[in-house]
Amino acid sequence: MSLLDPVWTSFLYLAAAVFFILALRGLSSPRTARRGNLIGAFGALLAVATVFLSARLENIPWIIGAIAVGTAVAAPVARRVKMTQMPQLVALFNGVGGGAAALVALLELGHNEDPWVRLAIVFTLLVGAVSFAGSGVTFAKLQELMTTRPVVFPGLPVVMAAALLAAVGTAVAVVLTGSLALAVLLMVLGLAAGALLVLPVGGADVPIVISLLNAFTGLAVAASGVVLGNVLLVVAGTLVGASGTILTRAMAAAMGRSVAGILFGAFKGGSTAGSTAVSDRPVRSSSAEDVAVLLGYAQRVIIVPGYGLAVAQGQHTAAELALALEARGIDVDFAIHPVAGRMPGHMNVLLAEANVPYESLKEMGEINSEFRTADVALVVGANDVVNPAAKTSTGSPIYGMPILEVADARQVIFLKRSMRPGFAGIENELLYEPQTSLLFGDAKDSLAKVLGAVKAL
Ligand code: TAP
Repeated sequence: MSLLDPVWTSFLYLAAAVFFILALRGLSSPRTARRGNLIGAFGALLAVATVFLSARLENIPWIIGAIAVGTAVAAPVARRVKMTQMPQLVALFNGVGGGAAALVALLELGHNEDPWVRLAIVFTLLVGAVSFAGSGVTFAKLQELMTTRPVVFPGLPVVMAAALLAAVGTAVAVVLTGSLALAVLLMVLGLAAGALLVLPVGGADVPIVISLLNAFTGLAVAASGVVLGNVLLVVAGTLVGASGTILTRAMAAAMGRSVAGILFGAFKGGSTAGSTAVSDRPVRSSSAEDVAVLLGYAQRVIIVPGYGLAVAQGQHTAAELALALEARGIDVDFAIHPVAGRMPGHMNVLLAEANVPYESLKEMGEINSEFRTADVALVVGANDVVNPAAKTSTGSPIYGMPILEVADARQVIFLKRSMRPGFAGIENELLYEPQTSLLFGDAKDSLAKVLGAVKAL
């Protein structure tokens, strides 16, 4: 017997949907993101509780057992994951969501003869399976369980086209016959298509593909809502689909790429990963004391954080250095590139954690014209996002990506450990320019040494 009547059930679903929308609104700014997350989690809790109270559920102990296992695995993983590993965790969760939607659709096939519902079932099966396998491959790439370079083989486009054609044919057959065996075949074809879709994508573009697969999972979940006649699943899935699509486009634009170019670029032989060769040309290396003098007697300093700052966990020391410079009357800002680090908003999250005021975080469009008035650009563990090859070198994998114009500053200081390149695997000519100096070492250690030397000035 159900404890809630249909009117209350609809009301609570509507409330959960409103919480999801408010959560997305909260997530759109670093200031409100934490609250947005909590609101979303509360909406999900409300939705699950409503299902328990309204539906005539069988196998309740199994359902509770499955929830307990999921919680026992996911909660510690989410707590322990390093910020730099977040994209692969998102890939994993996303894949599981797509896979779950596909399995639900498979189980529902036996109970449905309506061709429209069957259409929703085959859509869920196919897209959910693509998302599951694609997310699995992106996880393996980001976790470096396999090569991060594009994996292509002769005839790949033909195999891909054949898999998609076979999937469409099988989907039509499942709608017409309701055959379970063909539905399983459709899932297998979806798994193959998902893997083939992601294998040719090069390392630097993988996080964009995660976002795209996230949108796919949203669509699969929305379609599973149609299958189950559950409005909330339709709403939640559509929200995920829409926000995933917007994020995919925003990330692709920030990297100066088209989504089609990312997915099919490697088919044409244009790899998105560069060489990792390290040149032995001479560079100007500095001591922490030299860097402190340059910073301490400047009027305007712009700090450019990148992936290396996140790896070194140097955000608190960077914030302290900014405060020490400001105490000397120096104007300090942080320049935030939209794809600095390894996930959207990575630098905002990092610096917010270190209590850097939001007013000091300047977006690329806002700060780029200011580099020419800066005495020093201090590049901390960033490379690709300041690499002029994005503007000058047509063959480069980052060609077309808007960059932070640090070369306009009077002096450029790089804090990095070696001459190794960044994520895209290409050399940065700026490292060899006369106005550039390098302080080699772990970003956090170097920042601490520079901070000590600034205080001693
Ligand atoms: P990268 O180009 O990856 O450069 C990171 C730099 O940090 C390297 O030069 C590395 O040099 C240095 N580094 C690493 N560990 C360090 C440590 N412990 N201490 C000091 N330095 C350290 O980073 P970026 O400039 O932030 O660019 C981000 C890249 O990721 C771009 O290619 C972007 O397209 C890609 N990407 C980002 C996103 C999002 S959404 N953020 C999504 C997809 C792709 P050493 O090894 O010599 O120290």
